[in-house]
Amino acid sequence: MNVLQINSSARREASHSTRLANRIVQRLRDADPDATLTVRDLGLKPHPVLDESALGALFTPASQRTAEQSARVALDDALIAEIQAADVVVLGVPMYNFGVPAALKNWIDAIARAGVTFRYTEKGPEGLLKGKKVYVALTRGGKYRNTPSDTQVPYLKTVFGFLGLTDVSFVYAEGLAMGADAEELAISLAYEEIEAAVAA
Ligand SMILES: Cc1cc2nc3c(=O)[nH]c(=O)nc-3n(C[C@H](O)[C@H](O)[C@H](O)COP(=O)(O)O)c2cc1C
Repeated sequence: MNVLQINSSARREASHSTRLANRIVQRLRDADPDATLTVRDLGLKPHPVLDESALGALFTPASQRTAEQSARVALDDALIAEIQAADVVVLGVPMYNFGVPAALKNWIDAIARAGVTFRYTEKGPEGLLKGKKVYVALTRGGKYRNTPSDTQVPYLKTVFGFLGLTDVSFVYAEGLAMGADAEELAISLAYEEIEAAVAA
């Protein structure tokens, strides 16, 4: 089993979402000690934004790209190869201003590539990243689960589903900014959710 862990907090040691993602990976490896792990920390090493020069590089045929354009496309190719090789994807995702961190959005913009990770057929779009399990550890200062203010879950379900990633489990740690007791409770509940999600 190949596990790909994507961390998207801007924080390192202090990050709850990374800690929860680490925990999910740990439980997966407990069940399968031979599992390989690739960790991509988007806070530590941000992926570049999809700007005009990146779009220009992507839409230039490979044989006609400049060295700079080839290098830019290669950055995205590396992320695509990582997710193609993964059997399981584990993401740590903080809520930033009611959405996903820009660093995660840049990763999604890199892995969503027509003809490679999705394609259009006569019947509509088809996701090409099939047969993978996805776990998402969500962390929030407030509490938005199952409310219209939680734009993260519908967004991630939609974009992952579009790419063929339809088996997605979400675990939540909410109320992390609501005092030390609330924080501790949120983390212990999230650990319980992780046990249930990994056992399912
Ligand atoms: C820039 C920024 C924006 C945030 N926006 C929100 C928000 O919109 N809603 C919320 O509930 N918490 C918000 N928070 C709190 C974080 O979601 C919370 O601290 C979470 O634990 C951060 O994830 P991390 O521990 O992995 O770094 C924000 C935190 C930061 C730093």
